[in-house]
Amino acid sequence: MKMQKMKNNVCRLGAQNWNRRLFDSLIPLPDGTSYNAYVIMGTEKTALLDTVDPTKTEILMQQLEDIDRIDYVVSHHAEQDHSGAIPVVTEKYPEAKVVATPKAKGMLVDHLCIPEERIQTVEDGETISLGGKTLEFIHTPWVHWPETMVTYLQENKVIFSCDFFGSHYATTDLYVTNEAVVYEAAKRYYAEIMMPFRSVIRKNIEKVEARDISMIAPSHGPVYDKPSFILDAYKDWVSEDVKNEVVLSYVSMHGSTQKMVDYLVSALVERGVKVHVFDLAVTDLGKLAIALVDAATIVIGTPIVHMGPHPAVFYAAHLANTLRPKLRYASIIGSYGWNSKAIEQIQGLIPNLKVEILSPVLCRGCPRESDFSALDRLVDAIAQKHRAL
Ligand code: FEO
Repeated sequence: MKMQKMKNNVCRLGAQNWNRRLFDSLIPLPDGTSYNAYVIMGTEKTALLDTVDPTKTEILMQQLEDIDRIDYVVSHHAEQDHSGAIPVVTEKYPEAKVVATPKAKGMLVDHLCIPEERIQTVEDGETISLGGKTLEFIHTPWVHWPETMVTYLQENKVIFSCDFFGSHYATTDLYVTNEAVVYEAAKRYYAEIMMPFRSVIRKNIEKVEARDISMIAPSHGPVYDKPSFILDAYKDWVSEDVKNEVVLSYVSMHGSTQKMVDYLVSALVERGVKVHVFDLAVTDLGKLAIALVDAATIVIGTPIVHMGPHPAVFYAAHLANTLRPKLRYASIIGSYGWNSKAIEQIQGLIPNLKVEILSPVLCRGCPRESDFSALDRLVDAIAQKHRAL
């Protein structure tokens, strides 16, 4: 796509990646993604904000064909999906300085071999004037790495936020047109890369919100011309409030754990608790991450494989532990053949989750009446804990 005008002398460029299905060899991308860059032309100088993933460098360079001079390449974030084309851009524009936080400088040198002398560091709140366009740099660590910052274009009241507020969503739309679709894509993005740092992100939202904002322009997904949509969503996600919801992630091999899961779901719903159910053998782990943003409780269901949990449960439990959702309670259900160390092993996988463990229910073989009674007691405990929230 060609450059798209947002404001006078402010344009979006970059590339849509329609068919990318995995990020960091980890994160599912059902809707692809985009790598947005922005060009801002002042009366004296021109700045390029972020670049693109290295695989899309050619597209960016075609978009820059008619731009004779770039004075600044602002690197909000050293991860390669935004910084990957900086070496090619700076080769084309030998006068350009790379503008970054002090922490980003070393990362840009390490990851992209950008010569130190090409990098100009900026402090929190520092400004650069392009002539009628003033770039104010706001340090916002941990959105997504520790070196990240955003830029506020003072005259046009636009926040260029890079990963912050972004969504993995490839679209021809410059602005958000379908809020429901973008909400889910942005929540997936938040869950997978920012949720662990939500206390810092709360402070970053406050810093950003202290400005008068007309637009938020991230480097993934469409631009928010109604900033309150994404700001309100983020404030909800980073709050410490949990919802009356259970995430039930499980695997079943021969049907016994499945019977327990089906019983548990039905009993929870009867007691007014919403349940998100994920069969880990087939689920999109991004959907699981989204559900973990709000839920008060996680229940892990597993058959026993050689005394321990199913390997898919190891993976999902480790992922949940890494994402550090604001869960308050956890429990474990499942079925074993002759012996089990699953409870101890799963508990050992989730030390980052500050949860109270509610009585696990493991049965030998098929669940029987006494096992369903134990599940009822677990459900009563969950419902009671949720009512008290
Ligand atoms: Fe879009 Fe953290 O990179």
